[in-house]
Amino acid sequence: MKVLATYNIKGGVGKTSTAVNLAYLAAREGRRTLLWDLDPQAAATFLFRVRPRVKGGGRALVNRRRPIEAALKATDFENLALLPADFSYRNMDLELDDTKKRTRRLGQLLDSVSGEYDIVFLDCPPSVSLVSENVVAASDILLVPLIPATLSMRAFEQLTRFVSEVEGRRPEVVAFFSMADRRKRMHRDVIEAMRSNGSCVADTIVPALSVIEQMAQHRAPVPAFAPTSRAARCYEQLWAEVRPT
Ligand SMILES: Nc1ncnc2c1ncn2[C@@H]1O[C@H](COP(=O)(O)OP(=O)(O)O)[C@@H](O)[C@H]1O
Ligand SMILES: [Mg+2]
Repeated sequence: MKVLATYNIKGGVGKTSTAVNLAYLAAREGRRTLLWDLDPQAAATFLFRVRPRVKGGGRALVNRRRPIEAALKATDFENLALLPADFSYRNMDLELDDTKKRTRRLGQLLDSVSGEYDIVFLDCPPSVSLVSENVVAASDILLVPLIPATLSMRAFEQLTRFVSEVEGRRPEVVAFFSMADRRKRMHRDVIEAMRSNGSCVADTIVPALSVIEQMAQHRAPVPAFAPTSRAARCYEQLWAEVRPT
């Protein structure tokens, strides 16, 4: 089982859109796929038309009073299960802090379903926290959407430093440009600078496209409601680049 997290310190950069679309594509090619929505705002849960509710809240999962299997929900799509977010996840840091091996608990919880899934997507809240440390320690790949702007590059440096300081397994960090507008000079410059400084950046660029925003109206992944759109092709190309073999 591989674990792929969409992560960035910043919010509003495309983490949830990416997790939802790539999880759909993984499931579509027959992989047994789980998406765990770790963000108390529950955007991924909403997009899969699931109620943002976990019995006993995040606490019951973290302290293992309830197995994560008990909280799983089916989606409208074959091979694709969802572990919903719940508003109680806003306190997940505190609950993790109370456990032994406080930076390894999410990984341990995922180990308990490793026979059931080929790939797990973690859709993360935008923060540097104990939850994020757990995500880093549990992941094989951190997929980092970047809006091409100077402050995004600073946040990416902070993220890289944070990842290097987390103990244990180091995930592969793969950045990609999200909501890019090639007509903007600054966007082109930042993309060039980032590509030449040795960071691992995917070739695929996901432009700013309104069909991606429309996911919230359709409450579905882009390739499910607009399979021939440019946005669907972009996510397919991104998935082909980052999918674990
Ligand atoms: N490539 C894109 N083009 C246009 N809008 C996008 C794109 N990616 C995300 N969005 C929109 O931007 C907002 C934030 O995206 P989201 O994926 O929720 O980011 P995050 O999870 O990082 O907060 C949402 O309204 C989403 O529909
Ligand atoms: Mg999000």
